[in-house]
Amino acid sequence: MAIPRRKLSSLVVLLFVCLIVFSCLEDAASAGAGRRSQSHIGGRWRGRGLVAAINFESVEPDEKVFNVLDFRTAAAGTGDDYEAGPGEDDSTPDWKMIVEAFKAACQHPGKARLVFPKGQYRTNTLHFMGPCRATRLVFQMFGDLIGPTDMSMLPNPFWINFARLNNVILLGSGGTIDGQGEGVWKNCLPKGCSALPPCNVKFDYNNNMIVKGIRSINPKAFHFHVHSCNNMRFENLYLGAPDWSPNTDGIHTSNTTFVQISNSTIATGDDCISLGHGSTDFNITDITCGPGHGISIGSLGKDGRPGRREKPVRGIRANKILFRGTDNGIRIKTYPKAIPNQVHDVYFQDIDMENVRNPIIFDQEYSTKNAKTSSHVKISDIHVHNIRGTSATPTAVNVKCSKIFPCEGLDFFNIDLSYNGTKPAQIASSCVNARPSYGGIQKPAPCTPIFT
Ligand SMILES: *[C@@H]1O[C@H](CO)[C@@H](O)[C@H](O)[C@H]1NC(C)=O
Ligand SMILES: *[C@@H]1O[C@H](CO)[C@@H](O)[C@H](O)[C@H]1NC(C)=O
Ligand SMILES: *[C@@H]1O[C@H](CO)[C@@H](O)[C@H](O)[C@H]1NC(C)=O
Ligand SMILES: *[C@@H]1O[C@H](CO)[C@@H](O)[C@H](O)[C@H]1NC(C)=O
Repeated sequence: MAIPRRKLSSLVVLLFVCLIVFSCLEDAASAGAGRRSQSHIGGRWRGRGLVAAINFESVEPDEKVFNVLDFRTAAAGTGDDYEAGPGEDDSTPDWKMIVEAFKAACQHPGKARLVFPKGQYRTNTLHFMGPCRATRLVFQMFGDLIGPTDMSMLPNPFWINFARLNNVILLGSGGTIDGQGEGVWKNCLPKGCSALPPCNVKFDYNNNMIVKGIRSINPKAFHFHVHSCNNMRFENLYLGAPDWSPNTDGIHTSNTTFVQISNSTIATGDDCISLGHGSTDFNITDITCGPGHGISIGSLGKDGRPGRREKPVRGIRANKILFRGTDNGIRIKTYPKAIPNQVHDVYFQDIDMENVRNPIIFDQEYSTKNAKTSSHVKISDIHVHNIRGTSATPTAVNVKCSKIFPCEGLDFFNIDLSYNGTKPAQIASSCVNARPSYGGIQKPAPCTPIFT
């Protein structure tokens, strides 16, 4: 059959258009696939560069060294005019000499280094408070700081406080920060604590700070509490406490932005890392968690007191994490209360689970039974890519979103989990008030969404 000339030419045009459209579609598809299979792309961290990659271990020619031991006599003398604040005990010789040495280093108009030689330093409450004249201040810990067991010596929410400082580097050169928390845990365990006990180290209103190679053990509550800081880098840390120790979160943050946490081992009794309200632009990478409760966003939607309006959590990148025997892997937790907030733009990528009880858990009914309302925290644009390993319970993926604010834009790609519990069961996923999108491997199989 002959095809009329006009028809033929329009067919050619059609074919041509199809080819173009098809190749465009293919480009789009492969771009999408590329984005999905590669970590980082599409999830770029917007953090600014901190201080360049110097190791800070050795003294630079233009740096002045302040050895805390050189201040022992100064502290013992009568000439010092420092007045002890609450919980600060000027009868402790170590405390006094550290305070004097810090004052001197802080006031140095140039680069300063405060050195703690090998040995043990027993101190009560320590405030390292700026602003300082030093253009850069390195705390170098060859020795160990040992906290008090007497709670009356710790009236603040912290034992050690770094506050209102710029360009400070806290360097663990073998030193340990030991909170001696055991007595407090034992008191808290039967009924819970009436107030959260003091953390080992609290960071408040600091900018451009590096905390590197520090060992922190046995805090009374959190190891590190980071509040209202900018541009913080935590690396090569070891944070340790027994699995039964209550509230011993590794790093808890709030109202804090541009944070890098990398190459660290966090083995504690509570959350490995917990991102409270107003935590934005985080890059968490190369972390081993366990024992403990995993990496958590939240809890959010909790505090509705006037003047305490919660800020969103967004721009979170957590890559290359190993969870070993933890209660949870990646978790988002919000209370079923009428307190508005948001969690969005979050990527969890390249994560290994070893016998984790709840590898992926988003819980918007956190810690509440028979709530009168559902959570007012909106969770959206959450990406979970390349998760593999074992779950200690059958429900490896458990998504429980809010009835009034269902989760949106949940994307699961390459989830490869198998059940390794004691009772025979099938691995499963569950989702309430959410309709995730799926790609790649899906073990467990995609959930059947339920809307309440
Ligand atoms: C996060 O930090 C690591 C280690 O510094 C770096 O290699 C990686 O590129 C960063 N990720 C993003 C998304 O910027
Ligand atoms: C949050 O952090 C910013 C920047 O550090 C600070 O100005 C503000 O006062 C902080 N807000 C609260 C409630 O602490
Ligand atoms: C990671 O941290 C450990 C100590 O915690 C250190 O020995 C090692 O060199 C660090 N690795 C990198 C790549 O910085
Ligand atoms: C499976 O569970 C057992 C018992 O808890 C544990 O010893 C083993 O390491 C687990 N295997 C994997 C691959 O997680």
